[in-house]
Amino acid sequence: MKLRTIDYNNVRGKYVLLRDDFNVQIVDGNITDGFRIEQSMPTINKLRESGARVAICAHLGRPKGKRNMEFSLRPVADYMNIPLIDDCLNRDFMKNMQDGDVVLLENVRFYGAEEENDSEFAKKLADGFDLYVNDAFAVSHRAHASTVGVAKILPSFAGELLSSEISELSRVMENPARPLLSIVAGSKVSTKIGVLKALAKLSDTLIIGGALGTTFNYACGENVGNSLYEPDQKETCLEIMKFATDNNCKLLIPLDKGVAKEFKADAARTNKTFDEIEPDDVIIDAGVFTTKRDTDEIRSAATVIWNGTVGMAEWAPIWSFGSFALAQTIARQTKNGKLRSIVGGGDTVAALEACGVKDDISYVSTGGGAFLEFIEGRELPGIVVLTENH
Ligand code: 3PG
Repeated sequence: MKLRTIDYNNVRGKYVLLRDDFNVQIVDGNITDGFRIEQSMPTINKLRESGARVAICAHLGRPKGKRNMEFSLRPVADYMNIPLIDDCLNRDFMKNMQDGDVVLLENVRFYGAEEENDSEFAKKLADGFDLYVNDAFAVSHRAHASTVGVAKILPSFAGELLSSEISELSRVMENPARPLLSIVAGSKVSTKIGVLKALAKLSDTLIIGGALGTTFNYACGENVGNSLYEPDQKETCLEIMKFATDNNCKLLIPLDKGVAKEFKADAARTNKTFDEIEPDDVIIDAGVFTTKRDTDEIRSAATVIWNGTVGMAEWAPIWSFGSFALAQTIARQTKNGKLRSIVGGGDTVAALEACGVKDDISYVSTGGGAFLEFIEGRELPGIVVLTENH
C-alpha cells in the first residue's frame, strides 16, 4: 500500500489541516492516558519545525452533533499547551498565525455533518488550508468529513503515525514469524466475528478470552452462571470453532474462571472450573489454569497479536490477574528477544501501562476499532483516500 507522504521541505508558511485522534480518556478534566497524543507528536513537531502553520482537527467521544462542553477538547489543548479555537469552522485565528504555530480546533463532532461526511461541511472544514495531513489511524475506519471528505478536496498526505501503523501492522499480517499466537478477548462476539475469522485463518493458535470466551464456553454447553455473555451468538461461536479447525488453527477457550457473587471491584474471588460454576456466580476474570495454559502458549510463540483484556483489568489487584499475567509474559518474552508482539485496543494498552510494561512491547497500536478492521483485512476509508489520485 503506497501512501502519499509529506514533503516537509515544502510546507513553510502553508496552512496545514492535521487530523489527529485525540479521543482519549478524561476523568474530572484530566487526561488519564496521553498515549494517542504522545504518538501524534512526531508529525506535529516535524510540521512545526518545518515552518507550517498547523490547525489540528480532532474529535472526543460521541456528542451526537451537539455542542456539548462535556466533550470539549479543552483538556487536550491544555495538556499540549496550545490554543483551542472554539469552533472548528472559525478561521479568524489564521490571520495571526506565524510559521511554526500550532492550534487545536474544537471537537469536529459538535457538527452532525462530520459523521455524515457531508460535502458542504467538508468544504467549510477545508476552507483556508493549503494541504491536509491525516495522522489519525484510530479513526481511519470512519468515512467522515474530516477523514475522507477533506482529503478529496485538499492535497492530502499521511502523517508519521498513520504511516508507521500501516507498515507495522502490514508486516505482521503479511509475513509473521511463526508460530503466530493471537489472543482476542473483550465483551462481544457479535463485534469481533470478522477479526476472529481473519485471525483463525492467519494464526497457528487463537486464544479467545474475556466475556467473548464465556460466550464460547456457553456455546459448548458449559455453565456460565449469571455472567455477561451473548446467548444469540451460540451458532456463530460453533461456526468460528469449525472455521478454525478447517484452517489448521488451534482454537483455545477458557478452562476456568475467577468468579464472584457480585460484579464488583472488591468482591471476594474464587477460582472455579465450569463444572463448579453456580447459577448466581458472575465471571469477572480468567482462571488460574487458563492463565497457566495461555502464558505457556505465549512462551512457545514467535509472534503474538493481542487485543482485549481477559477480565476486569481496571479492577486491580483482584480482577487484573489474568490480563496482567498475559501482559507481563508477553513483555518479558519480547524483552528477551524471543517474541515479536503487537498489541492494540484501549483497554489492552491500559493494562500494559498499569503493569508498567508498555515500552517492552514491539509495537503498540493507537487503534481500537481501526486496529481490528485493519487486521480483518477491511479497507479503511481514511487510508484508501490517501492512496488515490484526486
Ligand atoms: C476510537 O477511539 O476508537 C476512535 O477515536 C473512533 O471513535 P468512535 O468509535 O467514536 O468513532
